[in-house]
Amino acid sequence: MGRRKRRVRTQVAIIGAGPAGLFLAHLLARAGVDAVVVERRDREYVEARVRAGVLEQVTVDLMDRLGLGKRMHREGLVHEGTILAHDGGMFRIDMKGLTGGSTVMVYGQQEVMRDLFDAGEERGVQVVFDAEDVALHGLDGSSPHITWRKDGVEQLLDCDFVAGCDGYHGVSRGSMPESVRREYERVYPFGWLGILADVPPANHELIYCNHERGFALASMRSATRSRYYLQCPLDDRLEDWSDDRFWDELCLRLGDRAAAGVTRGPSFEKSIAPLRSFVSEPMRWGRLFLAGDAAHIVPPTGAKGLNLAASDVVFLAEALEQHYLEHSDAGIDGYSARALARVWKAERFSWWFTGLTHRFPETGPLEHRLQVAELDYIRDSRAAQTTLAENYVGLPIS
Ligand code: FAD
Ligand code: PHB
Repeated sequence: MGRRKRRVRTQVAIIGAGPAGLFLAHLLARAGVDAVVVERRDREYVEARVRAGVLEQVTVDLMDRLGLGKRMHREGLVHEGTILAHDGGMFRIDMKGLTGGSTVMVYGQQEVMRDLFDAGEERGVQVVFDAEDVALHGLDGSSPHITWRKDGVEQLLDCDFVAGCDGYHGVSRGSMPESVRREYERVYPFGWLGILADVPPANHELIYCNHERGFALASMRSATRSRYYLQCPLDDRLEDWSDDRFWDELCLRLGDRAAAGVTRGPSFEKSIAPLRSFVSEPMRWGRLFLAGDAAHIVPPTGAKGLNLAASDVVFLAEALEQHYLEHSDAGIDGYSARALARVWKAERFSWWFTGLTHRFPETGPLEHRLQVAELDYIRDSRAAQTTLAENYVGLPIS
């Protein structure tokens, strides 16, 4: 139990200092709305987590709008296309040409977090780190508050609204009564084994590869840092995967042409991530809003997770600005439906792209031939390529 109790007040309490929480804090600060971010871990931990690597135009625009884009435009890599590969064959999706000029930016989530934290310090974005036992109270009334403990001291924050930006394992979603929540979930029967290595990437654009032995992805963080993934069984252990075994398997799956570009080297990060499609509806209950992974998860195949977190909080910040500056609750009332409309389209795309490129337990020779037939169709159809490109670069904010 804590020794004393400290009580303060803000307008919006934000739980979680991941991309959703910090983007929201910056957007609110810019609009002159008071907010405090309460985070369970320390800054080093949050910043060091190796996760997403591809930013949609919407996220790039958000970084620019917040005046955070300088380093991203200097160090990030603009990608105008991406490669699909199977059975040794490869073809390119010209995203820029097919979408009337849209591209994506390769810039790691770690870099985004560093930019958000650095600028946050200068702009007075308040973040409480190392907050233990965060709890939400009074969400269905007119004066909610949140509590936590830090350094043995009980803390209480009164607020008008709570933004649950605390990821899939956070407390916010579970603070909505089960009777109002509807959850949709699919857990995929495999994981992604990812490595980072300081070697030049295999290709200047990403390669998504369907192989009979499983999916492979050649990605990057910079011209000198590669990020590779292999589909693997969920019960594989990292100890089973020496660097040599990883490089051999990667080259086998990529096929001779793409493998010719692979430079091997020691990995400095190796991890296995599970894959899941998940949506919890609604994204608002009373004075609680959910945003980002707290409300939905996508398998990483479409590179949508971080980008959805960004679009959610663009909608949420607009709604809160309307409430405080225009005294209208239309945005608040419409937030859940507006955010979910975009979320479900990204869920569909990520699910479809995962199905097209991965090996499932039920993938026999027939199913593999069907995947190959669909890949061949995409290769030969401008309409199919346009559909893929539009979704990959990110659907517009509407
Ligand atoms: P998070 O980044 O999860 O942030 C939530 C924050 O809340 C965290 O800082 C957490 O510490 C904090 N928190 C949690 N519980 C509490 C609590 N009780 N109290 C206070 N704070 C709390 N996406 C891609 O597009 N490509 C990828 O390659 C990719 N790889 C991924 C790999 C892994 C292992 C994971 C987990 C995710 C990956 N994602 C990827 C998804 C992407 O990283 C997420 O969609 C993105 O981080 C979502 O941001 P968020 O702010 O909603 O949630
Ligand atoms: C990454 O570089 O981490 C990455 C890129 C594309 C994806 C997923 C992850 O679809």
